[in-house]
Amino acid sequence: MHTFQIVSSLSLLLAGSQAQKYYSMKPENHPKLPTQVCTKDKGCVKQDTAIVLDSNWRWCHDGSGSNCYTGNKWNEQYCKDAKTCTEKCGLDGAGDYESTYGISAKGDALTMKFVTQGQQKNVGGRVYLLAPNSDDKYNMFKLKNKEFTFDVDVSGLPCGINGALYFTEMEEDGGKSKYPTNECGAKYGTGYGDGQCAVDVKWVHGEANCENWVPSKSDPNAGTGRYGSCANEMDVWEANKISAAYTSHVCEEKVKGIYRCEGIECGTKPEERFRGVCDKDGCDFNSYRLGNDSYYGERKIVDTNTKFTVVTQFITVDGTANTPLKEVRRKYIQNGKEIANSKTNVPGVAPYDSITDPFCADVKRVFGDPNDFGKKGGLPRAGDAFDRGMVLVLSLWDDHTANMQWLDGAYPPGAPEDKPGVKRGTCPRDGGKPEQVEQQFPNAQVVYSNIRSGDLDSTYRP
Ligand SMILES: *[C@@H]1O[C@H](CO)[C@@H](O)[C@H](O)[C@H]1NC(C)=O
Repeated sequence: MHTFQIVSSLSLLLAGSQAQKYYSMKPENHPKLPTQVCTKDKGCVKQDTAIVLDSNWRWCHDGSGSNCYTGNKWNEQYCKDAKTCTEKCGLDGAGDYESTYGISAKGDALTMKFVTQGQQKNVGGRVYLLAPNSDDKYNMFKLKNKEFTFDVDVSGLPCGINGALYFTEMEEDGGKSKYPTNECGAKYGTGYGDGQCAVDVKWVHGEANCENWVPSKSDPNAGTGRYGSCANEMDVWEANKISAAYTSHVCEEKVKGIYRCEGIECGTKPEERFRGVCDKDGCDFNSYRLGNDSYYGERKIVDTNTKFTVVTQFITVDGTANTPLKEVRRKYIQNGKEIANSKTNVPGVAPYDSITDPFCADVKRVFGDPNDFGKKGGLPRAGDAFDRGMVLVLSLWDDHTANMQWLDGAYPPGAPEDKPGVKRGTCPRDGGKPEQVEQQFPNAQVVYSNIRSGDLDSTYRP
């Protein structure tokens, strides 16, 4: 181990390499999280899969243990410019996922805890599913004409905290082959991007995102850089025990895989929101927002006090994987009973029970939201991303931008609560502040389990 490390850094020096390096002062042991793939004829088959922690949460140092990044700042000595920073700095193994990040896998269940006080305070986390028997490739999901199913326990998630399970269109190897300065790859959880054109990623395209870095005013662990990392995103699940939403975000056609944006293309400033390359609002299905306040929540029809199963079906135009995606359907199973999705109950909108392009257009028209989703390609574009393959992301987070009000409270801030589309759940309007939830609910947690995918109606017992 040591010999290898010395030899490998020596050869890098000789080659004059400038790269996002990997270091191994701490081990990288991907927690095993078996999943299943199912077919209609043969049932489900277990896959030996594991998860890997995203690179943003990792120790970033110079190879001798000197920090390149601390809290929400880059090291001034190495990271004034991206080239030098990328040359000097690298990522390390995550070490013990549980004691440092509160992430643990047991059997087919993954538990993510909210605040973990190790040597440092860790808040939330983001992990990706690796391919079967691989430690350096993500599992690529192609879900057109298929379904995706998992069990979730959100009973430990109060207002302001979001347990999310979603797909984004990342590179299979984390960008290692496409961007030679990225020597880390999927093994170290590199290559994230999403429909918000994440500007808080510390590395994009194998390069440190340290230039023009602005430390966050409210988040002691985050900041924003010159570049953003954009990708098509399918949010299968964003939820706590109060509210839940599933949402499709798409990007302009030129965005295939990870797209590095800068300036207006990132759409970061509020006035440039709809001028970015990706659709930040997305098209969402949140039962409460769509007029049913008795469907999802504690002791409601989908009872968030106990575990339940979430089934998501990706329906195409002709019922094969060869035509465009046209509908994303949802159902739940709890205590052995199948629960159909709620129907929209909004004056002026037909009763829809799934995401389709007409649903998005109707709801946005009535809620007075621009249909950036439709403009940027709608569900067919989301299907194109699945054709190329998407990576499964499991995360737990609080929201320094909007206090999660868009999920479980009222949004946008200041809008009257009786205006259609504004109320998303029963959480107090002044709640969800990260400082407050981290202090009040450090032990919040989410458990994802029994993850399976495959033919329509093959992953659950009807
Ligand atoms: C909410 O959904 C349930 C289950 O579909 C239904 O029985 C109920 O009537 C709905 N309520 C409203 C207000 O739409």
